Amino acid sequence: MSILITGGAGFIGSHTAVEFLNAGYDIVVVDNLCNSSAKSLERVKEITGKDFPFYRVDLCDKDALEKVFLENPEIDSAIHFAGLKAVGESVQKPGLYYYNNLVSTLNLVELMSKYHAKKIVFSSSATVYGMPKTVPISEDFPLSTTNPYGETKLMIERILKDIWVSDNEWSVSILRYFNPIGAHKSGLIGENPRGIPNNLLPYVAKVAAGQLPYLSVFGNDYDTKDGTGVRDYIHVVDLAKAHLKALEKAEKVTGVDYFNIGTGTGYSVLEIVKAYEKATGLTVNYKIVDRRPGDIATCYANPEKAYNELGWRAENGIEEMCEDLANWMRKNPNGYEE
Ligand code: NAD
Ligand code: UFG
Repeated sequence: MSILITGGAGFIGSHTAVEFLNAGYDIVVVDNLCNSSAKSLERVKEITGKDFPFYRVDLCDKDALEKVFLENPEIDSAIHFAGLKAVGESVQKPGLYYYNNLVSTLNLVELMSKYHAKKIVFSSSATVYGMPKTVPISEDFPLSTTNPYGETKLMIERILKDIWVSDNEWSVSILRYFNPIGAHKSGLIGENPRGIPNNLLPYVAKVAAGQLPYLSVFGNDYDTKDGTGVRDYIHVVDLAKAHLKALEKAEKVTGVDYFNIGTGTGYSVLEIVKAYEKATGLTVNYKIVDRRPGDIATCYANPEKAYNELGWRAENGIEEMCEDLANWMRKNPNGYEE
C-alpha cells in the first residue's frame, strides 16, 4: 500500500507528506517542480527521518506518469495537489491553466483506473463558491467561479464525480480549502512563493522582514467589521491532517464527497496585520489602496461536516499561524534558495 502524492514538493503537498510519513504510510511523490523546489522534499526527509521515491515528472506527460505506476505497483490511492494556482495568472494565461490542471488530472485518473488505485483526495478551493450570498459557507451552497483557475477546480470536481458515477469502485474526496497559511513548527518547510507574492500572508511576512516596503490593503470600504476583506485562514499543518482523515474514510467507503476545510472563523486584513505584528514584534507598514478586482468581502467556512464525518477540526489559531510563518521566514529569508 502506497500513496501517490502529486505536487508533493509544493507548499501543502510537502506538509501533507510529513503527516502521512509520520502516520506510518509509504508515499511516492511526483512533481515537475514548476512552482517548487526539490529541497522541500529533502527537508521532509529530515523532519520525518524517512525516505521515499520522488519522480520529477509532469503529469501532462502520460507515459512518464505511467512509468511511476509501473515502478510502484503498490500505489493504491492518490492525494492530488499538482496544479497551477495563481488566480491573476490564470486570467492572463487561461490556456495554460486549462491545459495543465485538466490534462494532468485526466492522465492521473486514467492511470489510477488502469492500475486499480481508485481512491483520490483532490485539492479543491473555496473559490468554487464564487460570490456566496451568505456566510458561513456550507458544502451545499451554489457553485460558480469568476476566473479560469476556479473553472479548472469546478471542472475537475465534475470530472471526478462523473468518474465515480461511471464506476462505483471509486472513492473521491474533494477538499475545498479556505486560506492555507503558516508553516511546519520545525521551520524547515513553508510557503516559497516565487517573485512578489499574491496572497496576503506571504506579502505581510515579506513586509515585516523588510523585503518589501509596504502592504497594499485592497480596499477598506467593504461591508465588514473594519471595511477590509475577511477570510478563513487555516494552518497548513491542520490542512495536511485533513487529508489523512479523508484518506482514512476513502479506504473504508466508496462514493464522492465534499468537505470544507477551514476554521469557521473570519479575520480581516487589518486583524491579520495586527496578529502578525503581535506574533513577531515587527512592524507591517501598509497603505489602503483600491479594491482588487474580483475580490469578495467575506469568505469563511462552516467546517462542521468535516468534523462530523471525518472527525477533523482545525487546532491552531491565528497566533500559531503567524508565529510558525514568522519562524519559517526567519530561518529561510530566501525560501529554499541559498
Ligand atoms: P504549490 O504551487 O506550492 O504546489 C503545487 C505543486 O504542483 C507545485 O510543486 C508544482 O510544481 C506542482 N505542479 C503543478 N503542475 C504540475 C504538473 N503538470 N505536473 C507535476 N507537478 C505539477 O501550491 P499549494 O499551495 O501547495 O497548492 C496545492 C493545491 O491546493 C493546488 O492544486 C492548489 O490549487 C490548491 N489550493 C491551494 C490554495 C492556496 O491558497 N495555497 C487554496 C485552495 C486550493
Ligand atoms: N489582500 C490585500 N493585499 C494583498 C493581498 C491580499 O489586501 O497584497 C487581501 C485581499 O483583498 C483579501 C485577503 O487579503 O481580502 C486575502 O487575499 P488572498 O489573496 O491571500 O486570498 P484570496 O482569499 O483572495 O484567495 C485565496 C487563493 C485562491 C483561492 C481562495 C479561496 O489565492 O486561490 O483563497 O480558497 F481560491
